[in-house]
Amino acid sequence: KIEAVRALEILDSRGNPTVRVNVTLDNGVVATASVPSGASTGEHEAVELRDGEARYGGKGVLKAVKNVNEQIAPEIKGLDPTHQAEIDSRMLQLDGTPNKAKLGANAILGVSMAVARAAAQTSALPLYAYLGGAGARRLPVPMMNIINGGKHAQNSVDFQEFMVLPIGAQSFSEALRFGTETFHALARILNAKGYSTSVGDEGGFAPDLESNEQACEVIVDAIRAAGYEPGKDIAIALDPAASSFWDGSAYDLSKSGQGRKDTGEMIALYESWITSYPIVSIEDGLDENDWAGFGRQTASQGNRIQIVGDDIFVTNPAFIARGIAEHAANAVLIKLNQIGTVTETVEAIALCREAGWGYVISHRSGETEDAFIADFAVAMGGGQIKTGSACRSERIAKYNRLLEIEAELGACSTFKSPFA
Ligand code: PGA
Ligand code: ZN
Repeated sequence: KIEAVRALEILDSRGNPTVRVNVTLDNGVVATASVPSGASTGEHEAVELRDGEARYGGKGVLKAVKNVNEQIAPEIKGLDPTHQAEIDSRMLQLDGTPNKAKLGANAILGVSMAVARAAAQTSALPLYAYLGGAGARRLPVPMMNIINGGKHAQNSVDFQEFMVLPIGAQSFSEALRFGTETFHALARILNAKGYSTSVGDEGGFAPDLESNEQACEVIVDAIRAAGYEPGKDIAIALDPAASSFWDGSAYDLSKSGQGRKDTGEMIALYESWITSYPIVSIEDGLDENDWAGFGRQTASQGNRIQIVGDDIFVTNPAFIARGIAEHAANAVLIKLNQIGTVTETVEAIALCREAGWGYVISHRSGETEDAFIADFAVAMGGGQIKTGSACRSERIAKYNRLLEIEAELGACSTFKSPFA
């Protein structure tokens, strides 16, 4: 039974405060979880409660911490930690708002994740097996974000993420090696061309390239330089995060000198890239409120590539259901803190599965050393994880945990790229 729940204000990978929660059970089990935080957040995400006021530029989370300690803790004390849905629904009721604005999604999620961990520990199961059942053994293909732009870097690239997907690898550890060798090859190429190899929030390089397209070109060069075949061994995925350069009337690509574009022109731009580069997945290619545009892009390109909705769906089952009804995409980016409980996140994934949609378990640009999503990706078995480049320990923590899970599963582990 849950004996105590204590929250603490800690720092994330950008040095911004975030919430860590400890759950103690009456059998002595203590479990911890830490909450991540986005920069290019979706308009309809659950509310991340921040203190305002002077400390940490208004980003303190002492109110969320207090909500855990004084409101949530007494509400769930004495409950069985394996009753995840009941605990999550008690917190929703206690909050009482549609977007977790009262207690804060950061408070609620910290507890939700720590409860899941405590339940796994008390069941003597690794977290992936507790959440995914005895059949959970599929390791995900990593989408490794090796060039950062947009809101994740101070450079001239408008698109937020250029990722490599080692689709031809035979195992997770091999995929991680393919991607990491490509990352190192990219460093050599950028250095040789006189570009900066300092990194952005997710550990990808943040060079001042001439254009967004040049990012694809140098990545293809890096794949080759690392000894791999573009499109066969390693493919490319994009997350333009288009809401961040939609100015209300056009997609403003002037940061990289490509002017302003409408929805049709953006879809045409992606079309030309799909034919020139080995792109297998595009996330948030259009603004989060452009449902019709998402539908148009999916109708014309969804048969060839994965169209992922992140800001448009915000891991919210209601938005995903609408997306499925309107054919607005064919995959969903899954971020626990966009919706705020483990139970609702699992429900979002269940909708994807029923519709035959893909789903990608994802980190946030502001992360901690908590590797919860590594276990979660194996538990949910969708075969895809997005958790940054091959540097910055808050990203590597997830990869290292996946290596550990792969080793633990041994010959029982499976690895099958959804794109191979
Ligand atoms: P965020 O970015 O965590 O800053 O929202 C990640 C993404 O857009 O996928
Ligand atoms: Zn995104």
